[in-house]
Amino acid sequence: MRRKLFFAIMAAILSVPAFAADRIHLSLDASKPGPKIDRNIFGQFAENLGHGLYEGIWVGPDSSIPNTRGVRNDVVAALRELKVPNVRWPGGCFADQYHWRKGIGPAEKRPATVNSAWGDVIDTNAFGTDEFMDFIQQIGSTPYVSINVGSGTPQEATEWLEYMTAAAPTALAKERAANGHPEPYKVGFLGIGNESWDCGGAMTPDYYVSLMKVYSRFVLNMNPAERGKDQMLKIAVGPGTPDTEWTEAVMKAWQRHTWAWDINGVSLHWYTVPNGWPPSTASENFGVDDYVKTLKSTLFMDDFLRKQEAVMDKYDPEKKVTLSVDEWGAWHAPLSGSNPAFLVQQNSIRDAILASLNLNIFARHADRVRMANIAQMINVLQAMILTDKEKFLLTPTYYVFKMYVPFQDAAAVPVAFDAGTFTHGGVTLPRVDAIAAKDSSGKLWLEITNLDPANPVAIDADVTGVTAKSAKAETLTAPTVDSINTFESPSTVEPKSTAVKVQDSKLSLTVEPRSITVVSIEQ
Ligand code: AHR
Repeated sequence: MRRKLFFAIMAAILSVPAFAADRIHLSLDASKPGPKIDRNIFGQFAENLGHGLYEGIWVGPDSSIPNTRGVRNDVVAALRELKVPNVRWPGGCFADQYHWRKGIGPAEKRPATVNSAWGDVIDTNAFGTDEFMDFIQQIGSTPYVSINVGSGTPQEATEWLEYMTAAAPTALAKERAANGHPEPYKVGFLGIGNESWDCGGAMTPDYYVSLMKVYSRFVLNMNPAERGKDQMLKIAVGPGTPDTEWTEAVMKAWQRHTWAWDINGVSLHWYTVPNGWPPSTASENFGVDDYVKTLKSTLFMDDFLRKQEAVMDKYDPEKKVTLSVDEWGAWHAPLSGSNPAFLVQQNSIRDAILASLNLNIFARHADRVRMANIAQMINVLQAMILTDKEKFLLTPTYYVFKMYVPFQDAAAVPVAFDAGTFTHGGVTLPRVDAIAAKDSSGKLWLEITNLDPANPVAIDADVTGVTAKSAKAETLTAPTVDSINTFESPSTVEPKSTAVKVQDSKLSLTVEPRSITVVSIEQ
């Protein structure tokens, strides 16, 4: 009998859902704002790949899909909501084989070329420099142009910059005017090649560094109005693996740079590929095993950044050079039936959570990571938007970027917490993650990610430094870890408001399993 009672009590204890005991305490200290969370960490990447540009952005002026000068109106309206700070274009691997002159002038005169970086498909070159700049202006963003170092020349790149930026009436500025744009374009960022250790030309670090200096010296913004604070920032190719040889070579050279050349950033590429290359995780119809493995692999970003930052600190203790994570995100197996070279994947609440984890990591590295670009904006990899002809949907990742808009250029506020852990299938993960920030109006913002696939977490948050008087919260969650939005059901994963109590400057709320919650705190 006593034995039976013992087992009954044990069974009752073991069946108590973990959340009954789960309460996590956060402490926010608004009196100690840290570095600015640069808006440019919310950048996007739009490569000439699959249906990223063609169909995703560009449908042409004669399309029955509503458009403005060939650019989809639905896509523009959705992206405007994200306040996209910068868009990297035209690649990626494509950048090192792009010859810009083929993409300017009357559409009917542009030559067809082959996109040998992505599937050997015919490229009409209908979406070229002027179309990209028009798109950027329509969404209210800043161009981040990657120049061709692999198969181009310094002369070709110099002339492209002249075409885009010359304010004086040079021959190329006149050509730009003839193509409809007398005013110079503002190029905010210039990428000097892409993955030059691999698709960009399989170069050694030293060979790249020599080329980088030449391109930095001669590829100039020719608009005298854009100098000093407003200057175009030059981003050198950086690492794509955790070793530090490449970063060492670039930073060592930078430390000795002369008046003749300079760079303002080093790029870093790191994708979430939990099973290694080639990517094999499913982007739909997966279970909790895949979910936890993917999040675990995402959290490696933090170690990767630390390693590279240690090298950068050695050569640049004042942190003048930005670490620009200009390709990141989930890279899953291609959707069945799609062209594998088009990198088409679905986008689930799991991807939304991994986006928030990465953005939080970048925010915690805000003193060095001042730029990042998720790969990629539309129809490719971890996209914001999926389209199919006239059909269009916003992905869970889109909503993360929308919920994080208040963090753009806000000052990081330290948040102390013990995240706790949960274990599934031998994988142990922190239960929650959180960041906080103060925006320019003085308002406080708190983000909490609940990684736990099954259990809600009760949160208490003490706010010091200001008095929290009231708060509102929005949360993004979904019925299962693999919930997605589809053209038929586009609203399965959408943010909704959630309750938060405030008393004596202390917030209480419950964050749902597998969720992202953003709280705005009024003082
Ligand atoms: O984003 C897809 C590809 O991944 C990019 O073209 C390349 O830079 C990286 O390897």
